[in-house]
Amino acid sequence: MEIHRVGVVGLGTMGAGIAQVSVQSGHETVGREISDELNDRAHSTIDRYLTRAVEKGRMTQADKDASIGRLTLTTSLEELADCGLVIEAIVEELEPKRELFAELERICPPDAILATNTSALSVSKIAEATKRPERVIGMHFFNPALVLPLVEIVRTEKSSDEALDAAYAWAERAGKKPVRCNDTPGFIVNRILIPLLNDCVRVLDEAGVSPEDLDKAMTNGAGWPMGPCALVDLVGIDIHVHASEALHQALGEDRMAPPKRLLDMQHEGKLGRKTGEGFFTY
Ligand SMILES: NC(=O)c1ccc[n+]([C@@H]2O[C@H](COP(=O)([O-])OP(=O)(O)OC[C@H]3O[C@@H](n4cnc5c(N)ncnc54)[C@H](O)[C@@H]3O)[C@@H](O)[C@H]2O)c1
Repeated sequence: MEIHRVGVVGLGTMGAGIAQVSVQSGHETVGREISDELNDRAHSTIDRYLTRAVEKGRMTQADKDASIGRLTLTTSLEELADCGLVIEAIVEELEPKRELFAELERICPPDAILATNTSALSVSKIAEATKRPERVIGMHFFNPALVLPLVEIVRTEKSSDEALDAAYAWAERAGKKPVRCNDTPGFIVNRILIPLLNDCVRVLDEAGVSPEDLDKAMTNGAGWPMGPCALVDLVGIDIHVHASEALHQALGEDRMAPPKRLLDMQHEGKLGRKTGEGFFTY
């Protein structure tokens, strides 16, 4: 199944990046936000990144113009009516996602693939809101979506092989490195990384080590490309805590619960890079 037109619903941190990946790889793309202001914000974010790519010599002006020309933004979900693939990247809450998927099923062609970018919710529970769960899969991009190549292609018990294969092929054409996995809490990377980062934070107090030295230890002793404290600051303390709580709730292992130190930081509004202060100051 060849996908020509792609819909992206929710153009925040992840959706704007996914829409850019899609237009850059030659796909007509319709993005949907809930207001014209949010559409304008997404458009200028994408335009700014494309302009930077031209300035750095990674893209020609003609390619930039063609990419931005493939992007249509709307507040009306009906405009996704002829999309062969829709990727949802709205708020990380089950009910709004289920409502959206039920609407998408009504609007989109019967063979459209409906994909969720959820990090921690059950793809199966989202699929159950539709009458064609075989067309519903997970496509979990990583932040920043434009830069990180991995896309976890998540299969529920009901997802069809044909939908999974078409999404996998689309991700490859978009220049990504897709990997297939089951619909289990945290999928692959977060299932491993979240408890590991929580261990790192606990070691700060247990071993009496500073964030600078912990990052120095893991980059120089374990070959990590980035230290764990710098990584949690980049992800955002609130996002990491939320994902830890979801994983802990789903799997019940103590290591998955967010460490007190992170909960204190969240309470104090020290959320990492986005607030200018986390383990480090920015
Ligand atoms: N931020 C990350 O690091 C990251 C990484 C991977 C996956 N995710 C997942 O991606 C999804 C989006 O996360 P984000 O960080 O981009 O969130 P975000 O808050 O930056 O963006 C969400 C956007 O969705 C919009 N929205 C809400 N309801 C909508 C609707 N019905 N139709 C259209 N737009 C709607 C909001 O206005 C907002 O702009 C979540 O499910 C999240 O778990 C996030």
